[in-house]
Amino acid sequence: MALAQKNPIFGCISWGKRYLLPLREHTDCVMQIVVEHSEALRGEVQVPGAKNSVLKLMAVTLLAEGEYRLTNVPDIADVDTMCDLLRALGVQSKKVGTHELVLTNSGNITPVAPFEFVDRIRASINVLGPLVGRYGSADIAMPGGDDFGSRPIDLHVAGLEAMGARFELNKDGIRATAKRLQGASIELKFPSVGATENILTAAVLANGVTVIDNAAREPEIVDLCNMLVAMGAQIEGIGTSRLVIHGSKKGSLRGVRHAVINDRVQAATYIAAVAIAGGDVQVRGARPEHMEMVINKYTQMGVSIYPQRDGLRVTAPERLTAIDFATLPYPGIATDYKPLLVAMNSISSGVGIVTENLFPGRFRYIEELCKLGADIRIDGHHAVIKGVDHLIGTAVTAPDIRAGAALVVAGLAAHGETVISEIHHIDRGYDDLVGRLSGLGADVTRV
Ligand code: EPU
Repeated sequence: MALAQKNPIFGCISWGKRYLLPLREHTDCVMQIVVEHSEALRGEVQVPGAKNSVLKLMAVTLLAEGEYRLTNVPDIADVDTMCDLLRALGVQSKKVGTHELVLTNSGNITPVAPFEFVDRIRASINVLGPLVGRYGSADIAMPGGDDFGSRPIDLHVAGLEAMGARFELNKDGIRATAKRLQGASIELKFPSVGATENILTAAVLANGVTVIDNAAREPEIVDLCNMLVAMGAQIEGIGTSRLVIHGSKKGSLRGVRHAVINDRVQAATYIAAVAIAGGDVQVRGARPEHMEMVINKYTQMGVSIYPQRDGLRVTAPERLTAIDFATLPYPGIATDYKPLLVAMNSISSGVGIVTENLFPGRFRYIEELCKLGADIRIDGHHAVIKGVDHLIGTAVTAPDIRAGAALVVAGLAAHGETVISEIHHIDRGYDDLVGRLSGLGADVTRV
């Protein structure tokens, strides 16, 4: 039966057509990941540092002259892009081994962020707060990053305007200027991660006290606050939705050594891999206190998760049970976990309904899961997933970082070969996903 018949809404490739397609593209420059159906996974996997933390920690080196030593840095493409961007602004970086980064701010900063780097990653917008707070101006092209619909920065702008910054749009992007920013009371209409970070990192050098209400409180923001405090900033309410920042004098902050927190989304990825392939794995460095809601959902699906001294032990049931969930800001289920949970639902028993509340366009990968035989329908910002017995390997394309990783993990449950292209997306945020899964016994290779 044609998959397209099963999932007409997505126009999935029919069996006949599928066999006419070369699964692997043999060109010099195209890298792909090939996943074979997996037996149960066993062993240990170490969770690397968090992308969504390290990039923000790197940006705050703009705030003060000095040397910064970041450890537990993930070996990912976005870190390289952020190094390029910071170098263009005047901060030098040097890798020490694969997981340590030394950044040096000698005070020679040009607050102009070029399009060629800003366009590549969303976190490039995180230089805005430090630049306008410390140097009184910032010229920044509009940030890029994953394409899941419109990603406005109105909350960043409104917050900084409340502190006295002026913004203008020009053909190259945005230009922000300010004399010295003034502390202000800012209530975010939505707990935006990026807006919280930019207002926070601008406020640490503002004149007076800034209060951010309805602030985002993701673990990565706590990590950022902890590094800022080590640099000499005064921040109260860390980890809550009300941050109170007492502005410090320019020149009073200093370079520090800081270990990046572990990546909760990568930890969740290895749990999902075990859930899908079966097995018994220690996920070292997973922080259950950062993952409470998603662990609850995994548990409802039948996955057994036991806290250990340094992480989690994960075992999988014979068959997963489908669940309903909705994405929400932290401590809710992060939108970044969604592709993993959808992949799990697609081979569970029962029907799961998923609601995306953060990025309405973040469903593009579902068409790819359907190519593997998943039975999923979209209705607005809901997806209805009817579990199938198994998936069938074919050629799919990674549309973004998290969806790409979910397709790799889904491939573990697919009969035959799953070939994932556009894996540069995965490389942006995953530190050796292939090596780590192979270390657990999965047959996953880069070709
Ligand atoms: N929003 C606005 N106005 C703004 C800012 C945000 O309307 O000024 C809306 C966005 O359009 C979106 C929602 O608020 O609908 C959430 O955006 P938020 O600002 O919280 O997210 P972000 O800072 O753009 C970060 C992560 C994302 C992660 C989200 C949500 C980084 C670099 N990116 O994005 O991570 O999905 O928070 O948790 O930290 C990823 O790692 O793959 C990734 C996409």
